[in-house]
Amino acid sequence: MANVAIIGAQWGDEGKGKIVDLFTQDADVIVRFQGGNNAGHTLVVDGKKTVLHLIPSGALHPDKLCVIGNGVVVDPEVLIEEIEKLKAQGNLQDDSLLRISEEAHLIMPYHKAIDQARERLRGEGMIGTTGRGIGPAYEDKVARVGIRFIDLLEEETFQEKLSRNIEEKNIYLRAILKEKTLDFYEIHDGYAAYRERLRPLVINTSLLLDQQMRAGKKVMFEGAQGTLLDVDHGTYPFVTSSNTVAGNVCSGAGVGPRQIHQVIGISKAYTTRVGSGPFPTELFGSEGETLKREGVEFGATTGRPRRCGWFDAVAVRHAVRVNGITGIALTKLDVLTGFDEIPVGTAYRFHKKVFNEFPASLKTLQGVEPVYEKMAGWREPLTEARNFSDLPANAQKYVRRIEEILETDIILISVGPGREQTVILRNPFADSR
Ligand code: GDP
Ligand code: IMO
Ligand code: MG
Repeated sequence: MANVAIIGAQWGDEGKGKIVDLFTQDADVIVRFQGGNNAGHTLVVDGKKTVLHLIPSGALHPDKLCVIGNGVVVDPEVLIEEIEKLKAQGNLQDDSLLRISEEAHLIMPYHKAIDQARERLRGEGMIGTTGRGIGPAYEDKVARVGIRFIDLLEEETFQEKLSRNIEEKNIYLRAILKEKTLDFYEIHDGYAAYRERLRPLVINTSLLLDQQMRAGKKVMFEGAQGTLLDVDHGTYPFVTSSNTVAGNVCSGAGVGPRQIHQVIGISKAYTTRVGSGPFPTELFGSEGETLKREGVEFGATTGRPRRCGWFDAVAVRHAVRVNGITGIALTKLDVLTGFDEIPVGTAYRFHKKVFNEFPASLKTLQGVEPVYEKMAGWREPLTEARNFSDLPANAQKYVRRIEEILETDIILISVGPGREQTVILRNPFADSR
């Protein structure tokens, strides 16, 4: 009866989609609780790749309920496209398998325009956002001027909120950002069409989850982004605009803290980051290029190359603590094949001071040098490994050493993008509460 949260333990793109898809076989309901279509979750099933941005990564299984919780910001155009794409490839055949919270906020065209214009104006100092309007949509939510699905469903409320917002946003776009203004009717008519398509899916999802859990169903909460992109616990201001940590499952899905029984942190066996901001173990030479090439490190949402570096235990230990991680899924271990030596960052040094914990100061983070412990590499490919004993001795030692440094069990090792390319050591759904 365990419910499990799956959380990114680094800067996103850790392989959450693959792991959620894999564990969906043991769950009944899969829930997104934060973020929006800034996420890009890649699933590879029978050699076929699917990238999901909004719909939970349970959608490739025929009979699982997928829920978009109140904490998600939803671009309805992207959502409808994603629904249609899934339907066309034979998934999500029944509309009753997808439900959207009536309290989830909508991403509006002005959010995207503002996001993109601000990034242009920031120039060198850009955050490197995905340009999907995520930040401005969350700003409006907190400013209490956002438009929720329930508001969209009520024509009068929608008109009222939209016209007030358009008036204000157009002044901001024109006078401050020097951008084109937006037209009320164009947006209104487009969103009215989305409303009719999505109306049957919109409900009280907190209540739905309560009913499911009371009926003994197992729920998996699917995080987007990663802990170091969390607006409170990440490398602020180079973060996303939501809380990505396990604590936000409760507010983002409308469930109580006692409903989360396991928190699985997903971490690559090395580190990547897209967009700007500090990255202490980043590599700039040929080793970084090798990781990028072997790991095919290009963003699933924007196609941007990901910055690559060695495993950063300081960052992941921070993630273990702020999420209450009960087990780590270590992904992309196969990518490390071929290195003579594999350094693991165990601490940071800054002006002769050693940091064992992740510093909050951006200036410190930008100046730190990692302290490395060097592990011996291996030459054997790992992609066929299905049991821990299939891994070469040095790969086993690498995993065990990371486990020791993190003081957290590694419960799964991923050795390729495919669903089956996995060594499962412990299944979180099999654990009792
Ligand atoms: P997410 O955002 O956390 O779901 O991760 P992404 O899908 O953005 O990025 C992870 C990428 O790594 C995807 O292209 C996956 O197909 C791929 N991937 C996941 N696990 C593994 C693995 O163990 N080995 C390799 N080589 N690729 C993997
Ligand atoms: P998944 O779920 C990696 C990054 C952006 C940028 C910062 C802010 O696939 O792991 P935003 O558009 O959210 O305002 O951008 O956050 N970012 C991600 N990086 N994976 C993601 O999602 C990301 N979502 C946002 O690159 O640095
Ligand atoms: Mg991704």
